[in-house]
Amino acid sequence: MNSVDKVVNKSYDTVVGGVELLDEAAECIRRGELVAFPTETVYGLGADAFNEEAVRSIFVAKGRPQDNPFIVHVASPKGAEVAVSHIPDAAYRLWEKFSPGPLTIVLPKSERMPLITTGGLNTVGIRIPNNTIALELIRRSDCAIAAPSANTSGRISPTRAMDVYEDMRGKIPLIIDGGPSTVGIESTVIDLTREVPTVLRPGAITAEMLAEVLGEVVNHKGKVVVAAAPGMKYKHYAPVVPCIGARTPEAARKIASRFPSAVIMGESSFVKDIEGVTTVNLGATPEECMRNVFSEMRDAEKVYSCIVVEDFSEKPDFYALNNSLSKSTGGKTEE
Ligand code: TXA
Ligand code: MG
Repeated sequence: MNSVDKVVNKSYDTVVGGVELLDEAAECIRRGELVAFPTETVYGLGADAFNEEAVRSIFVAKGRPQDNPFIVHVASPKGAEVAVSHIPDAAYRLWEKFSPGPLTIVLPKSERMPLITTGGLNTVGIRIPNNTIALELIRRSDCAIAAPSANTSGRISPTRAMDVYEDMRGKIPLIIDGGPSTVGIESTVIDLTREVPTVLRPGAITAEMLAEVLGEVVNHKGKVVVAAAPGMKYKHYAPVVPCIGARTPEAARKIASRFPSAVIMGESSFVKDIEGVTTVNLGATPEECMRNVFSEMRDAEKVYSCIVVEDFSEKPDFYALNNSLSKSTGGKTEE
């Protein structure tokens, strides 16, 4: 009898209960059995992602074809390290912003991650669910948990423990009831192994939200979505009057001449030879300029109808300052 037959022949008296089942549930996962648990998206049908036989039994319980990859749930970015071979910086940035949460990130799989879990792919979808029961179950099981939605294949995704019970009764030992799922649809899946990050499945975290972090993503329809213009994105950094960057003192003077009144701000070497327009010397070092620029802008916006600020993008020492200023100018700059 192969392992699948063993599972098929096993029939459980399925227990449904709350957090008090956590230790028992973790014990089940460690033994290679299946546990249904709540997440913020939908209920998951979990197995130890590294246990091939356990993962195989998910297919049996769901009646699902064997070529679909499972999402692997971890409790933290650290927990992802055994599951994947490389974590790009972009993944950390996404986790910082959206995790725990309804986002699955596809990354190259580690040697240890069995192909049965990834549907034969060299990549694996990693998710940190935003649900304390789910996170605690992962921690107590001391592994990563492969989990599809806990419905019979083809049925509606379950968002309540009783929905799971309907489909999984007699097939799995335990269902942890964590109340209704708060998000209600499955996680957004984004693939970071492609040249441009690509949304494979839309969800509560939109392509636009992802583009804000990654700059550019391909949405699930194959369209490129870019971050909103910095001016819209960082409105809070902007003065109440037009604020425009200038690469050269000449460009600064030209911009100033288009407004009834204007002030030009920059490093001392930038403003020292400008005549006929009010100037503000921000200082001679990046530190001085950083310290002064925003208070000078606040004072200036009360008096002038335009603020022209030096564009420091060609000066590497001013990188951080230039980054902040690009938010004030919304990226508007003239040569
Ligand atoms: O919200 C969710 O993601 C829920 C909860 C339980 O976390 N899980 C879930 O799993 O929806 P499932 O099995 O129903 O959906 C898995 C889908 C696959 O059909 C595929 O679209 C994508 O996730 N996926 C997973 N791993 C992938 C990979 N390595 N490459 C590409 N797509 C992958
Ligand atoms: Mg599903």
